Amino acid sequence: MKATVSLIKADVGGYPGHSSVHPALLETARKKLENAKKQKLLIDFHVLAAGDDLQLLMSHSKGENSSEIHSLAWDTFKAATEVAKELKLYGAGQDLLSDAFSGNIRGMGPGIAELEFTERKAEPLVAFMMDKTEPGAFNLPMYRIFADPFNTAGLVIDPSLHSGFRFEVWDIMEHRRVFMNAPEETYDMLALIGAKSRYVIKRVFPKEGQKLPSNEPVAVVSTEKLYQIAGEYVGKDDPVAIVRAQSGLPALGEVLEPFALPYLVSGWMRGSHNGPLMPVSFRDARCTRFDGPPRCVAAGFQLSNGRLIGPVDLFDDPAYDETRRKAQEIAEYMRRHGPFEPHRLPLEDMEYTTLPKVMEKLKSRFEKVE
Ligand code: 13P
Ligand code: 13P
Ligand code: MG
Ligand code: MG
Repeated sequence: MKATVSLIKADVGGYPGHSSVHPALLETARKKLENAKKQKLLIDFHVLAAGDDLQLLMSHSKGENSSEIHSLAWDTFKAATEVAKELKLYGAGQDLLSDAFSGNIRGMGPGIAELEFTERKAEPLVAFMMDKTEPGAFNLPMYRIFADPFNTAGLVIDPSLHSGFRFEVWDIMEHRRVFMNAPEETYDMLALIGAKSRYVIKRVFPKEGQKLPSNEPVAVVSTEKLYQIAGEYVGKDDPVAIVRAQSGLPALGEVLEPFALPYLVSGWMRGSHNGPLMPVSFRDARCTRFDGPPRCVAAGFQLSNGRLIGPVDLFDDPAYDETRRKAQEIAEYMRRHGPFEPHRLPLEDMEYTTLPKVMEKLKSRFEKVE
């Protein structure tokens, strides 16, 4: 059977500040989705949280971009916003950018990662949810999972992945995309995706002739750019991703392996700082120090005829303790730079800036240097 897994998320109010999601919002969302499950619109669902982002993970048979599923997500966020307003949570309704919803949630504020595929005999998948960073934060792990033999042993030793994968890369400034093959075009692809604030990996596909159908994506990342949509600061578009694993794909442990490095991402305080990405358990998905550091949770599932069997809190594991310790060390080191780059982002990447006002004030005092 073909199943669709949709992970749709929004920040509809933080508690307190931008740190976490209030339990009443989770409860409101669960009720809404439970109702949709009763009415057979959803096969299954889980409501989760990462930092201050409310996460709706839904399985169904409606395909990607279904107006019924998107409407359900939108209505759920709307209902949660009402609760957030009543509790005066921080930035209630922050990510719902318009009242004019017309059936597709894309470009409306929430982030979306959707995958439609033929369910295999056993179908392991991981939902990754990050807070206090941007979609390009997934470039490094996606590259490492599907293209780096030092991460994924299967690329070398498993005949079913040996030919590599096909990547769909978006240029989010110009709203265009390019498909690239790894390993053949690895160096060209890295030239793009290393510039992670502009070029982002959107999807990964098996290649023609592999074990899995080449037209069904095996990984997807949410790539909505909130500040571009709104033309003003409305919060970093904390990204999510879904990755399938095993049997012709990287093993679960190969999917999780890139997160053993607390690599640097942009976001953190006011969406304007570089800092380490720290993999954490669900209970530690709360952004505190300097509104961070940026975090990632991983919810593991086996799909069974569309039912989401799980979640397993995959980073709730002492195997990631050393990564978290290292992340603290990097956070401390970065913080000591205060307002200086490269802790603070370069001017063009900041979400907040006083520079135009400062320049206006100093305009008449600037003088020519001979
Ligand atoms: P099993 O033999 O336990 O299925 O493991 C195979 C594998 O791919 C581990 O990464
Ligand atoms: P969020 O994007 O998670 O709401 O965080 C915004 C912010 O400014 C944190 O300092
Ligand atoms: Mg927030
Ligand atoms: Mg957030």
